[in-house]
Amino acid sequence: MTMRAMGFETRPGTSTQYLVGAGALMDERLTTVLAGVPVCAVVDEDVMKHHGDLLAGVVSGPDCLGSLGVAGGEHCKSLEQLTRVLDFLSECGLPKHGVVVAIGGGTICDVVSLAAMLMRRSIPLVLIPTTLLAQVDAAIGGKNGINFGRTKNLVGHFYHPTVVACDQAFLATLPAREIVSGIAECIKIFAVADREALARHSRRWQDDRLFCESEGWQDSIWDAVRWKLTLLAEDPYERSSRRLLNYGHAFAHFLEEQSGYRLLHGEAVLLGMMVENEVSRELGIGGPALDPLQALTADFLSEPCRRHWPPFADVRRELPKLRQMRRGQMNLVCLVEPGDGRIVDDVDEAVLAEAWRRVERRLDPCTAVNGLGPSEAADGPAEPAVTMRAR
Ligand SMILES: NC(=O)c1ccc[n+]([C@@H]2O[C@H](COP(=O)([O-])OP(=O)(O)OC[C@H]3O[C@@H](n4cnc5c(N)ncnc54)[C@H](O)[C@@H]3O)[C@@H](O)[C@H]2O)c1
Repeated sequence: MTMRAMGFETRPGTSTQYLVGAGALMDERLTTVLAGVPVCAVVDEDVMKHHGDLLAGVVSGPDCLGSLGVAGGEHCKSLEQLTRVLDFLSECGLPKHGVVVAIGGGTICDVVSLAAMLMRRSIPLVLIPTTLLAQVDAAIGGKNGINFGRTKNLVGHFYHPTVVACDQAFLATLPAREIVSGIAECIKIFAVADREALARHSRRWQDDRLFCESEGWQDSIWDAVRWKLTLLAEDPYERSSRRLLNYGHAFAHFLEEQSGYRLLHGEAVLLGMMVENEVSRELGIGGPALDPLQALTADFLSEPCRRHWPPFADVRRELPKLRQMRRGQMNLVCLVEPGDGRIVDDVDEAVLAEAWRRVERRLDPCTAVNGLGPSEAADGPAEPAVTMRAR
């Protein structure tokens, strides 16, 4: 498998190197950044358990001042864990010219990236994302955040890493439910960016959904990274609320919060995209061209999506907060068809209610014709991927 690499300019003269492929940890664009400087690593404990050998050079090399194990999952995006990471960096005495390395899924990348930005008014950062969701989305683009009070991602900023190394070897141990969560973000990116790429890659996600460390999957991850950076280049600091990458996210954070974070981020995004597609149909923006996308999205829904689906009355109660989070307006991303999206300002409550009912009908076990099967029904940690990989 050949390594793919791309530089993304974050300001004149400074760029982030994005690496995608098996062996990314050995690539000299990463190893030179870590050579001869003090390093502190923060590692997802599960990743360390599965991939200790692969990580040995980073977490116990001669320049490593220390490594901190953190339990991944949404609950690590908290002020307590941020403080714990800052304490660790401070106790290690990491100097300003050192490097902080975050190894884990999107949650670890989010909290460690914020810590690296705050520590000594910014210390160079390397991200080694280990979930599909983090490799195609969370570690891409320089955004970080923790949850605060009852609100997801309320505290955070933008801070660009020096290198993001997406090594597919990590994905071999990812539970099936987490793979599907990553596929949700793949659907999001291609659905707003490129109809042809969506069609081409989605065949792989359906046929080979549990084999994302394979060479074929390298294409999907690479294209997702490339497209996300292309879309971000137009608005890197989200100054405009008009970003198409918000597709599926108007309700996703609300759905995660409502479920007490038992719904995975990607599962909430699947549901959020389905609602926005129904809004698009209800407003006459999207027609039959959206049917295959809606069917593809529904195909990845699992039992927790049904279990944690709230009634519209709960949404109605939250609308003022949802509007506030979106600069006062309930603006949604409505697709005409994949690759052709519009931002619709201030969608009417009655339209939302109808869209919510339509998605609810698809989730109803009596009418569902999608993949809400028992095999991926576990809520909470899914079965280890190894038990689910027999073809
Ligand atoms: N900053 C951004 O731009 C951005 C974008 C999208 C999502 N996000 C955030 O990303 C988070 C979700 O990230 P996630 O889905 O990676 O969740 P996660 O970090 O919680 O990882 C999911 C689970 O997989 C485990 N895990 C990680 N790597 C593994 C591996 N290789 N093998 C086995 N198990 C492994 C973790 O311990 C955890 O239990 C959310 O908080 C979301 O808000 C951020």
